Amino acid sequence: MVFKYKGIEKFYTDQGKGSALVLLHGFLEDSSMWQELIPELTKKNRVITIDLLGHGKTGCLGYVHTMEDMAAAVYAILKHLKLRKYIFIGHSMGGYVALAFTRLYPESIKGLCLLNSTYEEDDNERKQLRARANKMVQSNYVNMVRMSFANLFSAESKLKHAKAFNLALEIALKTPIQGYMAANEGMRQREDTSVFFAEASFKKVVLLGKKDTILNVNDMLKFTNKHTIETHVFSEGHMSHIENKEEVTQQILHFIEKI
Ligand code: MLT
Repeated sequence: MVFKYKGIEKFYTDQGKGSALVLLHGFLEDSSMWQELIPELTKKNRVITIDLLGHGKTGCLGYVHTMEDMAAAVYAILKHLKLRKYIFIGHSMGGYVALAFTRLYPESIKGLCLLNSTYEEDDNERKQLRARANKMVQSNYVNMVRMSFANLFSAESKLKHAKAFNLALEIALKTPIQGYMAANEGMRQREDTSVFFAEASFKKVVLLGKKDTILNVNDMLKFTNKHTIETHVFSEGHMSHIENKEEVTQQILHFIEKI
């Protein structure tokens, strides 16, 4: 479905009945990333998926999409749907957006599941990488997207899930350059939310892939352990919803049941 927001079109889907579950995709993905999980999740829940700014069928608002800009656009849809309380599941950048959302609108949050995502800000090296990528992408988009994608799946699952890998790459390549750059800069600017996340009173769970090359999985484990935040580590990489689909679905269902 399409929703008009500040002069652009925002795309979302709304399926099922029950308490609301909001699914936010990651960088260079779109709401279709959840397709395989939807049949299970809609059995007992109302499931809303949203194309974030500059991704999928949602337009660009500007040249930088901060995590807060993306969160505000998500809020407008949830308000339009008259939803008051919801559980968020955010994959990677979608998790950063969900964290920004929970800081802006804390009263609406029942729970937050970070899937292959983090409350940490970028370190300096990653900030520099993003700035460099945003320069290079202007002249070499296809190669840059391919490179961004190369490490997302573990080596084993790139072969095992070749079809899903190619489909995800196809979707990534449809992301407009402005969407790439605006989100990449928005992620570069995002604040650290570690303390906020550890202290927040809503229910939370962190789902990680052991071979993830984007996140500091070991550092995260130390942190979540110290703050007794429920965490599960799957066997593969950054794309657990594909690489460890059954376990992810089970953990999400388990998480929802407890709320
Ligand atoms: C994502 O998958 O959303 C991105 O890789 C996250 C990031 O670049 O930090």
